[in-house]
Amino acid sequence: MHCSKKTVRDIDVSGKKVFLRCDFNVPRDKDTGVITDKGRVVAALPTINYLLDHNAAIILCSHLGRPKGSWKPELSLAPVAKLLADELGKPVKMSKDVVGEDAQRLSRELRPGEIMLLENVRFHKEEEANDPEFAKKLADMADLYVTDAFGCVHRSHASTAGIAAYLPAVSGLLMELELKYLGDILTNPKRPFTAILGGSKVSDKLGVISNLLEKADTLLLGGGMAFTFIKASGGHIGKSLCEEEQIEYAKDMIKKAQRLGVNLLLPVDTVAAKEFSPDAEHTTVDIENIPDDCMGLDIGPKTAAAFSSAILSSATVVWNGPMGVFEYDAFAEGTRAVAKAIAESGAESIIGGGDSASAVRKFGYADKITHISTGGGASLEFLEGKDLPGIACLMDMD
Ligand code: 3PG
Repeated sequence: MHCSKKTVRDIDVSGKKVFLRCDFNVPRDKDTGVITDKGRVVAALPTINYLLDHNAAIILCSHLGRPKGSWKPELSLAPVAKLLADELGKPVKMSKDVVGEDAQRLSRELRPGEIMLLENVRFHKEEEANDPEFAKKLADMADLYVTDAFGCVHRSHASTAGIAAYLPAVSGLLMELELKYLGDILTNPKRPFTAILGGSKVSDKLGVISNLLEKADTLLLGGGMAFTFIKASGGHIGKSLCEEEQIEYAKDMIKKAQRLGVNLLLPVDTVAAKEFSPDAEHTTVDIENIPDDCMGLDIGPKTAAAFSSAILSSATVVWNGPMGVFEYDAFAEGTRAVAKAIAESGAESIIGGGDSASAVRKFGYADKITHISTGGGASLEFLEGKDLPGIACLMDMD
């Protein structure tokens, strides 16, 4: 269903003003504000170039951070305009406001082949409130709405959903790719299909675990969230992370896996430490031997080997969430092993954004991955099988 949306190729853009919503919510250095990963900006270039090559004028729009409706200079999109101009090798005009006089003048004067960027759309509280008047003001600057903002499709905001009430609305080329790769997992994965979930909290992934159990042949659970499952299956986890209120849910999911014949693998060993710190003393123990005063901070080598072997025999792999605290070298090996196995598997591999995307980049395997999603929360909600406002608002194929 998700793949049946019209794209920028299905509509005449020549001579039109295109409102292009992107997700330029890029990570920045806390002290200097310098952009530390330009991945989301680079990912939007194919659509931008397509539109420029087809004689359109582009009004770019994005949010950055969570300014909650107030004007915060440190969250200005100006550094993104500069990065875009460098990447495109042409000027990117930046308006001082979003729907004010400056944005209106610049957009009115914009000619085909030219490009401008509006200031951070979340400087207006009407954006997150999906205020119809605000959405109309955005729409009034353009003839068409195109979105590449996959990272925001789960947000029902004025620039991600509301605006589509006033303009013909289609997906950009990045959005098309995201919907194809993530959509195929839910509708038509090549088998065997292995899903890998990690990260700290079960509660962040309730819907995803349940939905992927209905699609995958094997589900590998690592990271902090695995301990809630280990406890639910009667294990002893010492001081490891555990969401007591999710124990019943974990039990249900273990039963669901049995009922559906899904191979659910939990860690059999762990790298445990007394403290959560980069230089904490640590020891590798079987899962039933975690000392009372220790917490598991990575999967152990036996688990890494079992997970790798499942991955290597898969035809499709989707991964969301690290296996341990990979930011600290002492607890990075499990995540590295999973990234390596995915890279070497030859499987169609999809990384569901966020920390796992950072991990494959950090360990140097990014170019071996079929698709690294630009969505974090959005890719999770997509994998839950939810209908998402930023996709639902786009025109269907005839
Ligand atoms: C993201 O970084 O996941 C998206 O840009 C959405 O940001 P948000 O969680 O602040 O809506």
